[in-house]
Amino acid sequence: MQVCKQKGDLTCLQQQSLQGCCGMGHTRWATHGMASVVNAHPHVSCGGKVVVVHNGIIENYQQLKAELQQKGCTFASQTDTEVVANWLEYTLQQNQQNMHNALQQFMRVAQGSYALVVWFAGALHTLYAVKKDSPLVVGQGPQEAMLASDISALSSSIQRVYVMQNFEYACVTNQHIKIYNQKGKAIKIKYMPKPLQNTFFHKHNYTHYLEKEIYEQPQAVEKTLAYMLPKQKLTVSTLGLTRAYCKQVQHVLFLGCGSAYHVGVTLAQVVQQIAGVSAQAVCASEFRYGTFVLPKHTVVVAISQSGETADTLASVVKAKQMGCFTLGVVNAMHSSISREVHHAIYTQAGPEISVATTKAYSAQLVVGYVLALVLAREKRALHCKNLQTLLTELKKIPSYIAQVLQQRQTIQHIAKQYFQQSQMFLVGRALDYATLLEGALKIKEVSYIHAEAYPSGELKHGPISLIEPNTLLLACLTQPDIAEKTISNMVEAQSRGAQLVAITTSPLPQGIKHVSILLPPVLPLFSASVAIVPMQLLSYELSLCKGTNIDKPRNLAKSVTVE
Ligand code: AGP
Repeated sequence: MQVCKQKGDLTCLQQQSLQGCCGMGHTRWATHGMASVVNAHPHVSCGGKVVVVHNGIIENYQQLKAELQQKGCTFASQTDTEVVANWLEYTLQQNQQNMHNALQQFMRVAQGSYALVVWFAGALHTLYAVKKDSPLVVGQGPQEAMLASDISALSSSIQRVYVMQNFEYACVTNQHIKIYNQKGKAIKIKYMPKPLQNTFFHKHNYTHYLEKEIYEQPQAVEKTLAYMLPKQKLTVSTLGLTRAYCKQVQHVLFLGCGSAYHVGVTLAQVVQQIAGVSAQAVCASEFRYGTFVLPKHTVVVAISQSGETADTLASVVKAKQMGCFTLGVVNAMHSSISREVHHAIYTQAGPEISVATTKAYSAQLVVGYVLALVLAREKRALHCKNLQTLLTELKKIPSYIAQVLQQRQTIQHIAKQYFQQSQMFLVGRALDYATLLEGALKIKEVSYIHAEAYPSGELKHGPISLIEPNTLLLACLTQPDIAEKTISNMVEAQSRGAQLVAITTSPLPQGIKHVSILLPPVLPLFSASVAIVPMQLLSYELSLCKGTNIDKPRNLAKSVTVE
């Protein structure tokens, strides 16, 4: 077994070449110990017999490590994964142990989450794999087999796929794949054909996936709307609900992390306004350990692009235990969240490669708008005519997004002027504030500029002390009834030296020095879908000016499968 590790991105590994017909690879998300060569996977047991790669966290690794150290095992890294390699090697050395027994025992002993691939010096043409709470798929091609954390990572030669379940383990060679349950009983593998991966993985004429995906938004939204509105009509069945149940719904709880949580913050307001049903958004990482009193008929909507976010997945499990009906709004088919929820709704954004989400965010929003409309209709919260008007406005969103994409030049100018700033403030009220939360996250994660969103009324309660001459204050004004309030807050900041940029549906009053990005006449209720686009472009342009790693920003991963 040859092992090669590098710190940095995959190009560092490409310079090394390893020969062989069986192997494993891993890009590490540092959970224990720094990002360093010694902590990089694969981890090799101290006797050199077992090699492992691992996604997840072994929570009781310190206890296991101490026990192994007492038995003479040594450790080179600070990782929990090395404990697995040593634990398996030690167990295999005991009388009558083989890899099957060792893996069955491992599942009883290990706490936490794991998708592990194990290579053993005694069987060099076999890979073993075991999983709990972290995704793992196995695929078969004419002459090879592969394991991966995601279907999209499997090579194009793979023809059929099996998504492994918790507490299953696999024994894989290029000739056969065998899956066993925790007791070691072989199970019948229910393969599915590998979904076709089309041209999404090419950048075409774009420099970065982020740029390409921002421009794919009109299509992503249009396709998602077509999926949500079969024959252009509202139906309860796309939501996995019945008309009777809709009438009973008392509360809608949106759960998600990062951008998916921001979608929830917007949708909670939209559901309340359109359907008159109480709604809230909670970060999944808070929900899973917090105390929440939920009304009897609560629908929980778990939002996730990857469908694998550990906190969102755990929140779904908790919501089900609390007796809630769970809906998943997921982009990746066959993902863990889509399998866990009572009903999965698939956003039609296509694979999203850039770590910073854009088209999935936009697709998730329109799913929620449709949910709000369906609830409104079933609860008779809206007059038919108003419902029809909202539907018509909903269908205009893709073309509005396309119009905003044409304002790239204005945004490039703004980026060139402000890319050297260390901080920016984004202000707005109600739905605008929800959109700005996402705008600020985009700017932070891709350009590494500290951008913070505030409800504009909060500015004078503290953050205004951070305004210095030339600080950028970006305001969002898509809610005509409260726009004036935010304009007053902008002027207050301007008198303290701030430079103003407005993303707005109506021109600002004359006399206020600012740069405007004028939006098409989107309905205030659906404004997030359109107002976010200039902020996505701004984050991209700022990052271009700064030269950051746009598609893979530092310290981030596309799919966060650890809590
Ligand atoms: C967004 O740009 C981020 N990369 C991140 O906040 C992301 O939205 C979050 O990790 C949730 O991911 P999910 O949608 O796959 O669950």
